[in-house]
Amino acid sequence: MQIESAIQRLIDSTPGFMPKNEGAYLHKLALRSPGSTEHPLVEIGTYCGKSTLYLACAAKVLSSTVITIDHHKGSEENYPPFPFFDQRLRHRVTQDLETLDTYRDSLRLSGLDERVIAVVGDSNRYAKFFPQDTAAFVFIDGGHSSIQSWSDFIDWSPKLIKGGVLAIHDVFDDPAKGGRPPFEIVTALRHSRAFVELDQVGSLAAFIYSS
Ligand SMILES: C[S@@+](CC[C@H](N)C(=O)[O-])C[C@H]1O[C@@H](n2cnc3c(N)ncnc32)[C@H](O)[C@@H]1O
Repeated sequence: MQIESAIQRLIDSTPGFMPKNEGAYLHKLALRSPGSTEHPLVEIGTYCGKSTLYLACAAKVLSSTVITIDHHKGSEENYPPFPFFDQRLRHRVTQDLETLDTYRDSLRLSGLDERVIAVVGDSNRYAKFFPQDTAAFVFIDGGHSSIQSWSDFIDWSPKLIKGGVLAIHDVFDDPAKGGRPPFEIVTALRHSRAFVELDQVGSLAAFIYSS
């Protein structure tokens, strides 16, 4: 199922960290998940909604809902001296990163906002209120520090229903290309009997929760 060209143009113009080939794979993975009215697609790390739009397109086909979680203040790697700091997204008062407004613009323009529930807050605090065994799809792309990556994995992977899809972003075999925590999580998943690996496209790795 192709993404409409107008939506793809909007995705391309939305600030974010999802290359087109990985976004297409994210969309395909969400479509093959058991997403439904009862079983949502969950995203940790909304930023400005680039990846959310790929998921929202799939949710529309599945008659499902995307629940996307972000405190919208950016991760440590979104601030100097890291190269991922976008001056355009500074909050006018605090000067911190602020991505909520841009996210809301992207979703409104897409016409897909009724497919998405945005949770503005900390992913680990919200996890305490979200039932286990509920999500058809969990996409982890929040903070990339070791503690944040692992706590998102520990808190959110048990939310999957059997047959659900777990996708992890920014998985780099070569340490020169990116941070280690997502790679370490994927290495652990490869040794787990509970998950079966699907393809990895670029830095997007995916698994099915099988038991
Ligand atoms: C790499 S960006 C997400 C990129 C997005 N998925 C895309 O494709 O453009 C990571 C996001 O995680 C958010 N984040 C980091 N730690 C978080 C936490 N503890 N709770 C909620 N959001 C968090 C940051 O605010 C940032 O927007």
